[in-house]
Amino acid sequence: MGIVGAGPAGLTLALMLAEHGIESVVLEAREREYVEQRVRAGLLEQNTVEVLRRLGIADRLDREGLVHQGIYLRRQGKTQHIPITELTGREITIYGQQEVVKDLIAARVKQGGELLFEVSGVAVHDSETDRPRITYTHAGTGHELHCDFVAGCDGFHGVCRRSIPQGILTEHEFTYRFAWLGILAEAAPSTDELIYAWHEHGFALYSMRSSTVSRLYLQVRTDADLTDWPDDHIWAELQLRLAAENWRVNEGPIFEKGITPMRSFVCEPMQHGRLFLAGDAAHIVPPTGAKGLNLAVNDVRLLAAALADRYASGSTAALDEYSQTALRRVWRAQDFSNYMTQLLHNLDDGGFHERLQLARLEYLARSRAAAWSLAENYVGLTAENDF
Ligand code: FAD
Ligand code: PHB
Repeated sequence: MGIVGAGPAGLTLALMLAEHGIESVVLEAREREYVEQRVRAGLLEQNTVEVLRRLGIADRLDREGLVHQGIYLRRQGKTQHIPITELTGREITIYGQQEVVKDLIAARVKQGGELLFEVSGVAVHDSETDRPRITYTHAGTGHELHCDFVAGCDGFHGVCRRSIPQGILTEHEFTYRFAWLGILAEAAPSTDELIYAWHEHGFALYSMRSSTVSRLYLQVRTDADLTDWPDDHIWAELQLRLAAENWRVNEGPIFEKGITPMRSFVCEPMQHGRLFLAGDAAHIVPPTGAKGLNLAVNDVRLLAAALADRYASGSTAALDEYSQTALRRVWRAQDFSNYMTQLLHNLDDGGFHERLQLARLEYLARSRAAAWSLAENYVGLTAENDF
């Protein structure tokens, strides 16, 4: 197998294939340090934690991960709790994506499997034949990798999806009229669980990474620049948008700041011949539902099982179904992420949608069925539901 991209999708796939004795080569464009430091997601579904445990790489996650049993929704100082575990029997875990990536890389290196960093000029060829090839340059030398199958795990801006000839994929895209500014701060979280807050200035999210590090986000304009957001301005907006009686956001030195555009994107099918797309290479969700990383892990769980079946029995039945099966969860997550985004952001389109948001939040407070629906989507439908 040739795997392009050493993000959560590519690395998890390589480890799962190795469990079945299937050899793979992982090609990554960036340096190891860069991939291990890239700050992104933080919320793992129970499904994802179970995959990492099954791979035997969850020791640190089990020690350091923060297990949460609910979330808070806040609007104009009023807070409601969604008791996720009480409603669904399942939990969520806070553990930084870069920590997951470090654990995956360490396991891959220990296993002795091929994993090349700082690879350039990656190109996929002949994916509609029985012998696809990947050409690339590593340490100044050109190489050609002949493989049985190629996994495009190279994220939204990667080359694999774009190597598929025009006219084969249908792409669905929706771009939101706002972005997220995210920070990491050395500050003990003053909340025990995540707070998703609606405010007329825009959405705010209070998350965390540990008992001493807070992760916070603010809805900002798509043209916002970090220079418009000095630290004191960020804290003032967070205090305002997350405000509640007799309570404050704990402040501390900010050591990481970034702006992320918000988009929904899906390409269908997630396959062309012997090239299979997984993770952000095939789909993007706005982060409000915390689904991106979890979808990436789910895709490769399905892909690894289908490939194992193909090598063990010669049958391509599961591989042929891969795209359809993966897309079922992808579209469910698209709908949920869009719902959470529309529920909580300032959509800046007049009073009608604001009244709808209020009606939906009141419904969540009043109806166990509504809270349950949010909870089961947020915690992640059980993996068996994919089939
Ligand atoms: P990536 O992580 O993008 O990995 C792709 C890899 O391919 C990269 O290492 C890249 O360098 C490499 N690559 C690219 N092009 C090439 C090439 N040509 N050749 C070789 N290698 C290449 N998700 C959640 O589930 N929960 C959350 O709480 C959450 N929060 C988020 C918050 C933010 C601010 C952001 C930005 C994202 C968040 N996400 C969240 C989404 C999550 O981070 C992504 O969905 C996840 O990284 C997808 O993993 P991946 O392996 O598919 O892609
Ligand atoms: C995070 O902790 O980075 C995080 C948590 C929940 C989200 C998005 C990001 O919805």
